[in-house]
Amino acid sequence: MKRYRQYIMYALFLLFGLGCDEGKIYPDETVDSGRTATVSLSFIGLKAWPKENMLSLCAFGEDPLRPLQTQRISKPAEAGKKLKLRLNHLTPDTRSIEVAVISRGLRLIHSYYTSPVNDSDEPLDVSVGELDLASFKRVQAQVFDLNCLSCHGGGSGLAGQLDLRDDVAYTSLVNIKAPLSGEGKNYVTPGDLNNSFLLDILEDNPIHKDMFNSSGKQEVLALIQAWVSGGALDN
Ligand code: HEC
Repeated sequence: MKRYRQYIMYALFLLFGLGCDEGKIYPDETVDSGRTATVSLSFIGLKAWPKENMLSLCAFGEDPLRPLQTQRISKPAEAGKKLKLRLNHLTPDTRSIEVAVISRGLRLIHSYYTSPVNDSDEPLDVSVGELDLASFKRVQAQVFDLNCLSCHGGGSGLAGQLDLRDDVAYTSLVNIKAPLSGEGKNYVTPGDLNNSFLLDILEDNPIHKDMFNSSGKQEVLALIQAWVSGGALDN
């Protein structure tokens, strides 16, 4: 009972004691400050929806690799569905709004879209349009740049004579015969998964097959398959 009374005293103190000392009532904005960004977009290439990583709406500040704020996007029921997403309470140090794949440790893996943020207080309205999740730029950033360049980047020679640096990877792979393929496959044949040795290497080759953990590997294979099936565009 005594304790109960103590709580009431606290409550009264908070209500009147603090409030009266200050002598003013704050407007709502101080509680609910910050800008809001409304982002409209749609996705194609849903087979490349990340499993290990997260597709997110992010606010970035000075650091281009670590978002200030992220909100995971839920997978739409079908490709092309128009979505309207919102990011609330943007802080004043926000420099860009991005649609990006980020790791579970909240580090940027690949940004599909960037919209710079100016200094005003105006709400932001960002119209992104359609994003292809299975783009070559994502394959380059997520697969090649992060995992392959130590051996296929020219530093200590080129393993298998294959250069996967971002200025040459596309032309090294698409419609080019893979010397190591016993069946004479190309590295990548647009629209033809069975004639794309790049996939065989990642699935079966002893040097390569254990490069990713299981959900990481599923995500990488699904991404490359969706990119090849979609015509292996240079996008
Ligand atoms: C630890 C070093 C290493 C890493 C990392 C590595 N590779 Fe390789 N890769 C090799 C070696 C060595 C060969 C040549 C294999 C051989 O001669 O049997 C090779 C061969 C290949 C080939 C076949 C080349 C040919 O001539 O037919 C492909 C395709 C390939 N790698 C893709 C990749 C991709 C994609 C990644 C990143 C996900 C990757 N590799 C990461 C060492 C590596």
